[in-house]
Amino acid sequence: MKITLHVWRQPTPTAAGKLVTYKLDDVTPDMSFLEMFDVLNETLVEQGQEPVAFSHDCREGICGSCNMMINGAAHGPMKGTATCQLHMRSFKDGDEIVVEPWRARAFPIVKDLVVDRSALDRIIQAGGYISANTGGARDANEILIAKPDADAAMDAAACIGCGACVAACPNASASLFTAAKVSHLGLLPQGQPERYRRVVEMVEQMDLEGFGHCTLYGECQEACPKLISIDTISRMNRDYIRASLASNQAAAAEYAG
Ligand code: FES
Repeated sequence: MKITLHVWRQPTPTAAGKLVTYKLDDVTPDMSFLEMFDVLNETLVEQGQEPVAFSHDCREGICGSCNMMINGAAHGPMKGTATCQLHMRSFKDGDEIVVEPWRARAFPIVKDLVVDRSALDRIIQAGGYISANTGGARDANEILIAKPDADAAMDAAACIGCGACVAACPNASASLFTAAKVSHLGLLPQGQPERYRRVVEMVEQMDLEGFGHCTLYGECQEACPKLISIDTISRMNRDYIRASLASNQAAAAEYAG
């Protein structure tokens, strides 16, 4: 296959970036999108040019590193697929493909296609954990969990933190990511003691990081490589409102008493 790539090149965070065109003549349909980039980079190195910087780690759809906007779609044209799982058979001979980094204020560009997604880590640090003593692994197995709850928690836990939801959202909101993390803990008995504190702290951190607000476009759900539903956002909003009402009532009681 012959493929023409238009790739965002930006040598430093503050340098002006631009799309640079590369032509590849020996792409096979069985290559993954990242393998195609490996071929491009080997060619650039042989020519004495700087290879394209892009993030990747597991190449198995697990780590969430391989973030690329491909022809304007986060992770490319295949639904439920991370960039590392995308194959060149999804494209046609002669195709032109535009590859850009995630675009969001909270994801500053480091170099070329690499962006800094540590804002997502800080949202997790704000409350995406369970600190209550829940015993050992054996104890966990003795806590009965209704199948629908276990399934919903597992679906939310599938989030790999890639940031596609942010990149796809016209508001650059991280609501789907945050809601997935809030949901997978908040649906389980072990997550109950910190449930309402967790949602408030994670939502506040999301706002502090400069992500936009959710206005329910639903683009996040379409772009998510793990097919996480925007139902999780409704669950997060319900918990956030409940937590806010409870804290207002507590403040009113303190004032009155
Ligand atoms: S490289 Fe890990 S999810 Fe793609």
